[in-house]
Amino acid sequence: MNHFYFKDNHLYAENFLVEDLAKEFGTPLYIYSKNQILKNYREINQPLVNSKLDFINCYAIKANSNPEILKLLAEEGAGAEVASGGELYLALKFGYLRNKITFTGVGKTDEEIEYALRENIFNFTVESLQEIKVISEIAHKLGVIARISIRVNPDIDAKTHPYITTGMKENKFGIDSKDIMEVFKTANGLPNIDVIGIHSHIGSQITEVNPYIEAVKYLGELIQKVEKIGINIRYINFGGGFGVQYKNILTHRYIPTEEDETSRYSPLGEHVESVIKMLSAYNKKLVIEPGRSLVANAGILVGKVLYTKQGEVKKFIITDTGMNDLMRPCLYQAYHQVVPTTLKDTGFETVDIVGPVCETSDFLATKRSIQVMERGDRFAVLTTGAYGYSLSSNYNARLRPAEVLVDGDKHYLIREREKVEELHY
Ligand SMILES: Cc1ncc(COP(=O)(O)O)c(C=O)c1O
Repeated sequence: MNHFYFKDNHLYAENFLVEDLAKEFGTPLYIYSKNQILKNYREINQPLVNSKLDFINCYAIKANSNPEILKLLAEEGAGAEVASGGELYLALKFGYLRNKITFTGVGKTDEEIEYALRENIFNFTVESLQEIKVISEIAHKLGVIARISIRVNPDIDAKTHPYITTGMKENKFGIDSKDIMEVFKTANGLPNIDVIGIHSHIGSQITEVNPYIEAVKYLGELIQKVEKIGINIRYINFGGGFGVQYKNILTHRYIPTEEDETSRYSPLGEHVESVIKMLSAYNKKLVIEPGRSLVANAGILVGKVLYTKQGEVKKFIITDTGMNDLMRPCLYQAYHQVVPTTLKDTGFETVDIVGPVCETSDFLATKRSIQVMERGDRFAVLTTGAYGYSLSSNYNARLRPAEVLVDGDKHYLIREREKVEELHY
C-alpha cells in the first residue's frame, strides 16, 4: 500500500493530505489511488504476458464497480467477470470488450441470460444442469450459440473465512465432483450450447498458493477425463481469490502492531506464476478473475469521530462511518486496520470503533488499540478498495459516501455523496 503513507505524522494519499481531501469532500469518504490500482493490475498481468500463454484477465467487477475504476482497468486491457445483468450493463458501458466478458453466478435470471446472449459475451460460467438447459432453450429461441464453461466444485479448503470459501461440498457454488462428468456429457449434447471451458473459483482472500496448486491439479485431471469423452476444452478458468494483507499495513511508533495469524502473504505475482507453471502443460487458454487483489489496497475509507463514550466495560469511539458504508466487519468479522489521519503521541487505549447505525453489529473495529481519539478527529479504515463501496447500502436511510480518485497531484470526485432527495427514488 505504498501510495498511502505517513509523512510528518500526517496520512497521505499519493500527493494529497488525507485531511485536506476530507475537509473538501466531507466524511465518510472513499479515497482510491489510481497508481496503486495500476501497480496491482500490472503485477498480476505481467507474469501472464511473460508466459506467452493465451489469457484473459477478467476483473471481478463486484469488488469495486465505480465507473472510473472500471474505465481505468478496461483501458489497461482487462476483461470483466460479471455476476448480474447490472454488472454486465456496467462492463459494456465502461469499455469492456464483449469477447472478454464472462458471466458467473448460481442464479442468473432468464432475462439476464437473454441479455447476455444478445450481447454475445464470450462465456457463461454455469453452475447447475438446470441452468445449462435454460441457457440452451433461450439460445435456441434466439438462434445463437451459448459458449459455456462448467464450474466444478472441487471440494478444496481455501483456508479462508467460511463466508468467502466457495469450493467446498457444503457451498452452493459449482457442480459437485461426483456429478461433473454426467453434466459435461449432457451439456455437450444440448442444442445451441458450446462447452468451451472448465471453471473453478475456490474462494476469496486466499493467502497461500497451495490451495490453487491443488485446484489446478484437480482441473488438469478432470480435463483429461472430459477430453476422453470427446469434448474439446479450450479454456481453463481458475477464478480469482488472491489474498491481500489487512494487518499492519501502515506502521509507525504511534501505531500499535497487531498480531497477524497469517504466516505469509504470497505476493500477487507469485500466486500467478505458480499456477502458470502448471497450466502451461495443459495448452489451454487461461482465464483469471481477480477482484480484491486489484483494488483492496488501493482504497481507504475516511471517517470522523462524533463522540467518545466510556461504557461500564469498554470505551466506544462513535463515528460517522457505519456498517452501511463498510459492511465487511459486520458481515465476515473482517479486520481492517484503522489509523488516525494525524498521529499524536497520546499513548494507546483499547476501544470499540463503532458507527451510528442502530445495530450492535455496526462496528469498524472491536477491542482495538489506537491513540486517544477525540471528537472531530479523523481516521482512515485501510484496505477498503474492494467490497467496500460495492457492498454499501442505504440502511437507516443513510447516504452512501462520496468517492475520490487521486493520481499524483491530481484528484477527481468520481462519485458524489448521495443526496437525501435521492432516497425516495
Ligand atoms: C466466480 C468469482 N470469480 C472471481 C471472484 C473474485 O474474487 P476475489 O475478489 O477474491 O479475487 C469471485 C468473488 O466472489 C467470484 O465469485
